[in-house]
Amino acid sequence: MEFSTKAGSFEKQRSGCVVVGVFEGHKLSESAAALDSASGRYLTQVLKRGDLEPRVGATLMLHHVPKIPAERVLLVSLGKERDFGEAPYRAAITATVKALRSTGAADATICLTDLPLKRRDAGWKVEQAVLAIMDGVYRFDRLKSKPNGAGKPAPLRKVTLHVAQKPDVAEGQAAIQRGQAIAAGVAFAKDLGNLPGNICTPTYLAEQALAMGKELGLKVEALEKKQIEKLGMGSFLAVAQGSREPPRFIVMEHMGGRKDERPVALVGKGITFDTGGISIKPAAEMDEMKFDMCGAASVLGTMKAIALMKLPLNVVGVVPTTENMPGGNAIKPGDIVTTMSGQTVEILNTDAEGRLILCDALTYVAKYKPAAVVDIATLTGAMVIALGHVATGLFANSDPLARELLQAGDTAWDRAWHLPLWDDYQDQLKSNFADFPNIGSRAGGSITAACFLSRFTKSYPWAHLDIAGTAWKSGAEKGATGRPVAMLTHFLARRAAAA
Ligand code: BES
Ligand code: MN
Ligand code: ZN
Repeated sequence: MEFSTKAGSFEKQRSGCVVVGVFEGHKLSESAAALDSASGRYLTQVLKRGDLEPRVGATLMLHHVPKIPAERVLLVSLGKERDFGEAPYRAAITATVKALRSTGAADATICLTDLPLKRRDAGWKVEQAVLAIMDGVYRFDRLKSKPNGAGKPAPLRKVTLHVAQKPDVAEGQAAIQRGQAIAAGVAFAKDLGNLPGNICTPTYLAEQALAMGKELGLKVEALEKKQIEKLGMGSFLAVAQGSREPPRFIVMEHMGGRKDERPVALVGKGITFDTGGISIKPAAEMDEMKFDMCGAASVLGTMKAIALMKLPLNVVGVVPTTENMPGGNAIKPGDIVTTMSGQTVEILNTDAEGRLILCDALTYVAKYKPAAVVDIATLTGAMVIALGHVATGLFANSDPLARELLQAGDTAWDRAWHLPLWDDYQDQLKSNFADFPNIGSRAGGSITAACFLSRFTKSYPWAHLDIAGTAWKSGAEKGATGRPVAMLTHFLARRAAAA
């Protein structure tokens, strides 16, 4: 997709489609008003007929608008003017893409990025528009015998984002670059997430990481079982032993900062399919456990985005990846394993496997003396119960780090919510036979999972993002979301700017 920004008049320009917003009560936005007067009050007449629903994101496509050279004009409802904020703004752009996709318009001028928005500048609006547009045009049809797009009109190729004033044009250009780098990372994470378990295996993830390293100049290694054994990752290997697919331990390095600068480490859960193991899951919706590597995918996606941005920061991405299968050699409830840290774990439930692979990766990254470590994991079903599909769960042993991530999530509009990691919750992790078990009781399941991880992160500032509710959508729109690539990229970009 080709994006550009433009200020000033647009009414007399050729375009496949001009998009303008209308507030509730037929209140025209500034751009809509300009189009209205250029067309001899045509928009006003149309609105009077009542064909545009007032709810946010409703659209009305117009053709042959008098004295307007654009082939189409799209009206988008923005809701009440005094309630206009980030959410209706994003919804209006999403609705725009949806409406444009069903037409033959190959290019469009979108006059929504010029709308005033409290506490957000032109750069924010433009970046968000790029992300929402790329999100809306994303399709995963490579595994259909005929692509979904076959026989449909030409896709949207060129988007001009209208901004309110001249100085916003340059700010918008930088925002477009940022948005496109993040969107590329998001699309990569979505692709990996959407691929089924029989294609996206640990070997496949490793190959993708190696290929990305070559393409973008990252140093990438994908350790094999023998090397993982040498490192003493008894917990990670215990999960892998039930599967015929060999595990891999992927390490990606982006060294964009000073040589002596401590890196930020990202650790992603890479379970390419989670059957639950011997503590097997029920059959309903088990297909969605192909998404159990979305943490890993978000690490690959973020590495891609920051490499494209040439971010001046040292970042290490680490991914332990395996299947969780109930094979003849699989771990059994009650089995005790020794983690790389030396601590022993009684595996009371083989379905709590994410923490068993992450703990060894969290021990591994200590060797970098990291400035901060963030792990990203589809860790607990309880997270979906707690926060639904809107906010990612955030846990941390460092409040400043938690604040940085919350702030980045707000800026990226890829938001997280901070949950407690108080010692009171640690009491649930007691075992008669090993140092501790891999599960607590059902109460506060996401928190006890985070407590388990906290026992491997004592030597550095650490945060844990539980993306079980936000990494993918179920139902008619089933598919990976690419979250939280945008949050992580903003977090790292802010660190780079401060360094
Ligand atoms: N990958 C799942 C978590 C999950 C479940 C994410 C459903 C999204 C939707 C994880 O490995 C798991 O199975 N967790 C168990 C932990 C339990 C056994 C303590 C869970 O949440 O049920
Ligand atoms: Mn599981
Ligand atoms: Zn899992």
